Amino acid sequence: MNEIKLFCPATIANVSCGFDVLGLCLESVGDEMTITKTAEKGIRITEIIGAELPLETEKNVAGVAALSLIEALQPDCGFEISITKKIKAGSGIGSSAASAAGAVFGINQLLGNPLTNTELVYYAMQGEKLASGSAHADNVAPALLGGFTLVRSYDPLDVIAIKAPNELYATVIHPQIELKTKDARSVLRENISLKKATIQCGNIAGLISGLYTNDYDLIGRSLHDELVEPVRSILIPKFAELKAAAKEAGALGGGISGSGPSVFALSKGRENAEATAKAMKAVLEPIGVPFEVHVSGINAEGMKILHV
Ligand code: HSE
Repeated sequence: MNEIKLFCPATIANVSCGFDVLGLCLESVGDEMTITKTAEKGIRITEIIGAELPLETEKNVAGVAALSLIEALQPDCGFEISITKKIKAGSGIGSSAASAAGAVFGINQLLGNPLTNTELVYYAMQGEKLASGSAHADNVAPALLGGFTLVRSYDPLDVIAIKAPNELYATVIHPQIELKTKDARSVLRENISLKKATIQCGNIAGLISGLYTNDYDLIGRSLHDELVEPVRSILIPKFAELKAAAKEAGALGGGISGSGPSVFALSKGRENAEATAKAMKAVLEPIGVPFEVHVSGINAEGMKILHV
């Protein structure tokens, strides 16, 4: 196998209650990436279509993730990477993660899968570190493993894959304002109260339990964030109204997607997710902020091989 073409999925990190530890993988939104083996060693980013991003390997998230992987595996060849970006940078649905995860997944495939997808998470995180200053795994893990993922621990890294209930759908609205993950992280408080920590623990455990038992109401009740949403939501136009409109339209609940500015909601069934999209659109339309809306099932597989 000398060349591979991939669908690199978008992801929703945090999923309200799980800052830096929970994420889910989307089915219908993602980039495309082609990786080709070369005789010349090293990593070259040959083209990026659809976004203004650096081609220099050391300045590109896919490039940095790929370099960290080849440093570990020391293959006897190099790789060229071509990326077609469809996930907008800075949207809050894992644009940098899709590139970082795609690069390490594709190279691993071309080398005959010496590592598991779970083992690849660490290398993809190095791309996230370049993009945001922090090597979080809550976007790259679901992009690589599909479904929901839980980062039980960062040190040592311990990532758990969790299957999503079949009828769970996500609605994401992306108000097109600029909000960099680095900036959205810099507003967060370092310390939290025991009371807030207790509430957050209850909701994380509730969400995980709801996912395992297909209890949609419990999933909805658990989509609550005591720690991050109160601080970040002020950066997002009409956040409270978007969340309220989603619930009123039949969504189970929702919150900020990753570090924002996208807002997500989870629903039982596509019909509810479409109604939620309509209700969220109606909130943003009158204020004149351009936006994009996605309705997607949960992607159980993660990365998809389009052809080899
Ligand atoms: N957990 C991260 C954050 C996700 O909220 O900053 C953003 O990529």
